[in-house]
Amino acid sequence: MGSHLCDALLAGGHTVLCADNLLTGRMANLEHLLDESRFEFVERDVCQPFDPGEVDYVFHFASPASPVDYLRHGIETLQVGSAGAINCLEIAKKYSAKFLLASTSECYGDPLEHPQKESYWGHVNPVGPRSVYDEAKRFAEAATMAYHRTYQVDTRIVRIFNTYGPRLKLDDGRVISNFMKQALRGEPLTVYGDGLQTRSFCYVSDEIAGIMALAQSDEHLPVNIGNPSEFTMLECAQLVLDVTGSQSELRFEALPQDDPKQRRPDIAKARELLEWEPKIDFRTGLQLSLEYFRGAVASSQ
Ligand SMILES: NC(=O)c1ccc[n+]([C@@H]2O[C@H](COP(=O)([O-])OP(=O)(O)OC[C@H]3O[C@@H](n4cnc5c(N)ncnc54)[C@H](O)[C@@H]3O)[C@@H](O)[C@H]2O)c1
Repeated sequence: MGSHLCDALLAGGHTVLCADNLLTGRMANLEHLLDESRFEFVERDVCQPFDPGEVDYVFHFASPASPVDYLRHGIETLQVGSAGAINCLEIAKKYSAKFLLASTSECYGDPLEHPQKESYWGHVNPVGPRSVYDEAKRFAEAATMAYHRTYQVDTRIVRIFNTYGPRLKLDDGRVISNFMKQALRGEPLTVYGDGLQTRSFCYVSDEIAGIMALAQSDEHLPVNIGNPSEFTMLECAQLVLDVTGSQSELRFEALPQDDPKQRRPDIAKARELLEWEPKIDFRTGLQLSLEYFRGAVASSQ
C-alpha cells in the first residue's frame, strides 16, 4: 500500500521520502519511482530513531500486515507498532508536521458488533497468536492519541479494512493473493473452515483515495476506510474462478485460530466527514488486478 500512497502523493505534486527496511516489502514496487526527482528511498528500520529533516507530513505505514508475515515476524511487528510509532510521532512533533497512522480493522478483533463502527472497542484476544499485530496497532493508536493530547501533534488514524490490488505479494497468505495464485496455476483454492466466514474487500485505489481525504481532514479519532460489500469466502472463490476463467476446485482446511468470522466496515463516518465511498466493485477490482497476478504467477514459475 505504501508504494500506491507514494504514487498518489507524487501525483499531488508533493516530494516524498520513503523509509522502509524491506522486511516484508519489495523494491520492485518502487522501481517505477526511482528516476523521479521528487522521490527518495532510504532503507531504514523506523524502530531506530532517525531524523529525515524537515517534513510536513509523516505517514506511518510500516508494519508486517498479512497474517503470514506478522506471525513469522511477531517481535518486529510489536516493535514497529510501538517503538516505530513513537519514533514517527517524534518526527511529526519535532517538525510540527501532520501525522497519519495506518491502523487496521484487526483492532476490532473477532467482533461482537457487526458491521463495525469506529466507536466499537473491539474483541481482541490479547494473548493469542494474532495479538502481536492487533495489540501493536492498538498501542500505536493509543500513542497517536497521546501525542495529540499531550503535544497537540496534528494526528489522524485510519482503520484500513482488507485491501487488495496490483503489487500484493503472491505468498502473503491473504485470501485474494491465495485464490488468484491458485486459480491461475490451476491448483485447488484453499478455503478455511466451511467458507461461510465473511470479509469485505477494498480495491487499492479506493483505499488510497479515502486515506488521502482523511489526511486532508481535521479528524483526530479513527476513521474506517474500506468497502462495506461483504462476501463469504465461497462467494469470493467463485468470483475469482469467474474472473480468471479457471477450472480449479475448492479444498477445505481447518480454520486458523482466532480467525474473525465476520468483518465489514461501517463507513457512515467516512461518507459524512470525507464525502468518500468506494467506487470499484469486487468483480471489477479483481479484473483490474488480473494482469498483475498473471505476470506475478508467470515470473514465479
Ligand atoms: N493491506 C491491507 O489489507 C491492510 C489492512 C489493514 C491495515 N494495513 C496496514 O497498512 C500498512 C501497509 O500494509 P501493506 O498491506 O502495504 O503491507 P506490506 O507488508 O506490503 O507493507 C508494509 C511495509 O512496511 C515495511 N516495514 C515493516 N517493518 C518496518 C520497519 N521496522 N521499518 C521500516 N519499514 C518496515 C515492510 O518492509 C513493508 O514494505 C501496514 O501498517 C498495515 O498494517 C493494511
